[in-house]
Amino acid sequence: MTNTAILAASALLVFAYLVDAVGKRFRLPSVVLLILTGMALRQVMDGVELHLRWVEPMVPIIGTLGLILIVLEGALDLTVNRAQRRLIAVSSAAALAGFVAALAIFAAMFWVGLSLAHPRQATLTSARQRSVRTWANGVVALVFAMALSGGFVAGIRAGFAYNTFPLMNGHLVPPEIFAIEPWWHNFFWNMATVQFDHRALAWLLAVAVPLLWWKLRTTDGLPSRARSGGHLLAALVAMQIALGIATLLLGVPIALAAAHQAGAVLVFAAALNVAHALR
Ligand code: HEM
Repeated sequence: MTNTAILAASALLVFAYLVDAVGKRFRLPSVVLLILTGMALRQVMDGVELHLRWVEPMVPIIGTLGLILIVLEGALDLTVNRAQRRLIAVSSAAALAGFVAALAIFAAMFWVGLSLAHPRQATLTSARQRSVRTWANGVVALVFAMALSGGFVAGIRAGFAYNTFPLMNGHLVPPEIFAIEPWWHNFFWNMATVQFDHRALAWLLAVAVPLLWWKLRTTDGLPSRARSGGHLLAALVAMQIALGIATLLLGVPIALAAAHQAGAVLVFAAALNVAHALR
């Protein structure tokens, strides 16, 4: 088994080398060569009626991996200049739209799952109870905005600047937040503005979530699930803020940045859970 795996890996290496060499020689992109090789292989295998059952389920995995590697390879070759600004802006907008869609799909699926697990809706009769629900929905929206603004921070690598907390290079509001013209470009391209927005939203959450927690504790007649969900949400937000600050102060080590990204999804799920318990 080990020998077969080593042989297969070696054959793949030789194959990758050949694809690269042929691609360079004939100026063909390796992705085209790979697709052509795949099509030719399928014809040959069908011709000799050779069907390897274990190959079929692996094709999508290998294909996805291949695509990721090709995109990475392309990204390493990129040189950025002013003429490409429009293209970069369009790609960033597309990535942002993808991120929003991914979060929205996650929220919808999570909500449906919660509704299956807890089909009974809460009966909120008093104005105070209903205000807690509005507050919980507001926190969901705030966490969503927080995650989006985090995407901007990571997108322009704004976490590599202003590595101090709570001040940004000695200022609460850095003076250069409107340095770029026109002014609205600052919200997308200016590291100071993008990081300041992320911090400002974090301060808002640091106030809104404990308040929600307090309201959940002191309002009578709320489902106990909402109350315990409030504990979880408060703990996760505290952890997420601590992780964000550590990521910033330590100069964005990959492991912390990845944990911070995953933490955002957990915080979002915890906020949705409280809103769902009060629906
Ligand atoms: C509940 C609060 C927070 C949430 C939900 C949140 C969410 C996020 C998300 C989703 C990202 C994008 C990660 C990526 O796409 O790679 C991000 C990035 C980042 N956040 Fe936060 N964040 C929070 C609080 C904070 C705080 C308080 C700080 C520090 C002051 C911070 C610093 C950063 C930094 C430096 C990055 C960029 C990391 C990178 O370049 O990969 N975050 N945040």
